[in-house]
Amino acid sequence: MRLAILLPWLAFLLQACVGGPAATDQQTVLISGANRGIGLEFARQFAARGWRVIGTARDPAAAAELSALAAADPDVSVEPLDVTDVGAIDALAARLHGRPIDLLLLNAALGPTPQSAMLPLAKLDFELARLSFETNALGPLRLTRALMDNVTASTRRQIVAIGTDSGSFGATSKAPILYHYKASKTALHMYMLTLSFEAPARGVTVAILHPGLVGTNEQLARFPGAMKTPDSVAGMMQVIEGLTPADNGRFLDWRGESMPW
Ligand SMILES: NC(=O)c1ccc[n+]([C@@H]2O[C@H](COP(=O)([O-])OP(=O)(O)OC[C@H]3O[C@@H](n4cnc5c(N)ncnc54)[C@H](OP(=O)(O)O)[C@@H]3O)[C@@H](O)[C@H]2O)c1
Repeated sequence: MRLAILLPWLAFLLQACVGGPAATDQQTVLISGANRGIGLEFARQFAARGWRVIGTARDPAAAAELSALAAADPDVSVEPLDVTDVGAIDALAARLHGRPIDLLLLNAALGPTPQSAMLPLAKLDFELARLSFETNALGPLRLTRALMDNVTASTRRQIVAIGTDSGSFGATSKAPILYHYKASKTALHMYMLTLSFEAPARGVTVAILHPGLVGTNEQLARFPGAMKTPDSVAGMMQVIEGLTPADNGRFLDWRGESMPW
């Protein structure tokens, strides 16, 4: 009888000590390049699922839709970040020091433009090559190193890089186009694969996701079969939700199917 009276109080005390289920269950995602396209849609969908979202943007003042999301949801915040700026990466890591990041979503990238995409060897712009590698390969790797302790301190401990079939030797189109985009994304894939060999020692899972062909701009949207951004992101959300340590080092598409390297 006395135990029956005490039990609810014990349960209450236990919940107060551990912070209660709502406080402990909320997870944090950091999304680079969250001001438009796939990154913005990830921010929307993670926020809708009750995650704490840290969305980065090169120019937060111009990130109207991300800022509106943050204004409407106290769990969404915006951080300035250019992934080619080593000082900005260090400053972000300093601001986030001690905050667990369950999912580091390496999304920001310098994609092909209508002017650069089709250029053949003779017309290649090597300054664009440098910027592509800085943005698409070195930037994500530097950001990962800067935030590795945050990921390790979290519950989920996942790093997901948004790769592409264009950077896959087995899946890329055989057309002589997109030189710098393809090569810089292949470098990203290899950086992530190599990272996956040391990540398990810290309990971290690393995966690469190909979003499919997604109509994030007018040019892409005109391609036959281009997906709507929310559909691709909904698919990738499902894949991310199902990731386990057994998926470490895998390259998957938005449906969860294995991609060739
Ligand atoms: N769309 C597709 O069909 C497709 C297919 C395969 C893979 N992907 C990959 O999916 C990801 C998202 O693609 P998306 O179509 O959404 O691209 P997007 O619309 O071009 O958006 C790219 C994002 O990256 C940001 N970004 C570019 N350079 C940056 C830098 N130096 N520092 C920080 N942020 C930077 C952009 O910010 P600003 O607004 O400041 O430029 C923007 O937020 C990329 O990794 C892309 O390679 C896309």
